[in-house]
Amino acid sequence: MVESEFIPISQPFIDEKAKRYVSECLDTGWISSQGAYVTQFEQAFAKYIGVNYAVSVTSGTAALHLALLAMGVSAGDEVIVPDLTFAATANAVLLCGATPVLCSVDKATWTLDIDDCAQLISRATKAIIPVHLYGNPADMRALVTLSKEHNIVLVEDCAESLGATVDGHHTGTFGDIGCFSFFANKLLSTGEGGMLTTNSEHIAKKIRVLRDHGMSPTKKYWHEHAGLNYRMTNIQAAIGVTQLDRLDEFILARRDQELQYRSRLQGISDIVFKQELPGAISVNWLFSFCFLSDDNGEKVEALRAWLRENHVDSRPFFFPLHEQPPYKDERFVLSQTKLLSNSGMSLPTFIGLKESQIDRVCDLVVEFMHTYRED
Ligand SMILES: Cc1ncc(COP(=O)(O)O)c(C=O)c1O
Repeated sequence: MVESEFIPISQPFIDEKAKRYVSECLDTGWISSQGAYVTQFEQAFAKYIGVNYAVSVTSGTAALHLALLAMGVSAGDEVIVPDLTFAATANAVLLCGATPVLCSVDKATWTLDIDDCAQLISRATKAIIPVHLYGNPADMRALVTLSKEHNIVLVEDCAESLGATVDGHHTGTFGDIGCFSFFANKLLSTGEGGMLTTNSEHIAKKIRVLRDHGMSPTKKYWHEHAGLNYRMTNIQAAIGVTQLDRLDEFILARRDQELQYRSRLQGISDIVFKQELPGAISVNWLFSFCFLSDDNGEKVEALRAWLRENHVDSRPFFFPLHEQPPYKDERFVLSQTKLLSNSGMSLPTFIGLKESQIDRVCDLVVEFMHTYRED
């Protein structure tokens, strides 16, 4: 029997132009953050997103950390974050000495539950970080209103949502700051890397100083603040420039993949997909779905094992933060995110994934659904 090829959950896409640009950095010696591609990437990114300023950094986590530092988040402050997210969102809060306050997420959109968020606002609330999970925009209309009403900082975690829009505006343009990740599995990748977006010149300047050891931009080796070194290298930025040129093409290719998955799986009564809010257009970062009837995660585990046996990689949803040691929280409402986390998973999504491969994955899911029996 011929063994079927392995289909990974994700893989980066690096074209010939990226290799040429990287070679040029290596050949010319411009390998640190001082090269010209860094500014070129930042300017092109700001234009693409539709903001005045974009500041590149070493990762999405660094972007979140700097965003909170720049907005003055410190010990004694509370920052509202979704219970269902990659832990970096909450870690950035803890790194500032502040307290992450976990908010339930909406069962249909998988993003911040606005009612719970409103209830969590206290006198100590300094910021809210909505996460556009799996590329689906959070309810930015409601969150902008809420943050203005209470004078709270809004930092968008756009690590998974590059290219997603609300009312025609990109995610990352609604809050005081937007934070993006360019990790290898993201829509645009520089290996590791990240970007902050803002319309405020004051905030952009502050981020640039904090990113560069807190050093004065006009007086070298003079430090107004204790900062960090979160500078992106010219090599990463060179790859970023080539990827940004093709980003619309990448977004469309991923959307086609989502449509193909949906058309094959939507007839299955137990499967639901993320729902977009009115005016929102999501991106297909990783094609994801939930089982309606999988409160304890057994079905997800069984399907993932079946796919693994057949050489197909998959991913479970994130564990809810409220169960993990650094963020423990026992509020009853968070049991909703536990149910969502148990019932959700993602299937292979990347540039270069072929229609025939999606067909193979869907055949396996359909076969599993015909044979799986719940006890
Ligand atoms: C929602 C979310 N926030 C933050 C990050 C952190 O980004 P990075 O891995 O670039 O540090 C990630 C993923 O990697 C993420 O998925």
